[in-house]
Amino acid sequence: MILSSPDPALDPYVAAMLLKLQREAYAIEASLIGDDRIPTLHEDDEALAAPRGHWCTAWEGVDLLGAVSWHEHDDHLDIDRVMVSPAALRQGIATALLAHVREAAGGRELIVSTGRDNSPAVALYAKHGFEAMGDEEVPPGIWITRFRSTS
Ligand SMILES: CC(C)(COP(=O)(O)OP(=O)(O)OC[C@H]1O[C@@H](n2cnc3c(N)ncnc32)[C@H](O)[C@@H]1OP(=O)(O)O)[C@@H](O)C(=O)NCCC(=O)NCCS
Repeated sequence: MILSSPDPALDPYVAAMLLKLQREAYAIEASLIGDDRIPTLHEDDEALAAPRGHWCTAWEGVDLLGAVSWHEHDDHLDIDRVMVSPAALRQGIATALLAHVREAAGGRELIVSTGRDNSPAVALYAKHGFEAMGDEEVPPGIWITRFRSTS
């Protein structure tokens, strides 16, 4: 597995691959929480690339296996997305991507949110030392849990 740091705003091919991966991965979360009103499921490739955050992607040859994106702040990093191809789950890809973000954080806190009922993601963050900060209902009917981790 190779990790790289693309900018989808500058690379339409990568943006299209990320969008495909995002739709496949977040369909899993939609099924787990029983609701498809997840913003990442409704983005197009322009919206995906627009925020101009940081990305790390995991590749096996030409296959995109996973990706994480985040925004940096003075005292913390906000993780926006963590997604792994349904064909490549439980192979440590999200773990490798989170390790990359932790290194980029350089000691700053990591903040991430996920569907409260998304048990794979909740287990992932628990395994990697994140602690739950509480649940929020956004939008009505969708419960998310916010996690934080000091590096
Ligand atoms: C959540 C997700 C990112 C995990 O990716 P992954 O590459 O399969 O995770 P890893 O292989 O690194 O797993 C690390 C740990 O997470 C936990 N975990 C991951 N998937 C799990 C599952 N289906 N059930 C229970 N625990 C799970 C386990 O503790 C696992 O360690 P183990 O395999 O040694 O038991 C992936 O399932 C995914 O893309 N889901 C859809 C998108 C999503 O929900 N993103 C997160 C919300 S932001």
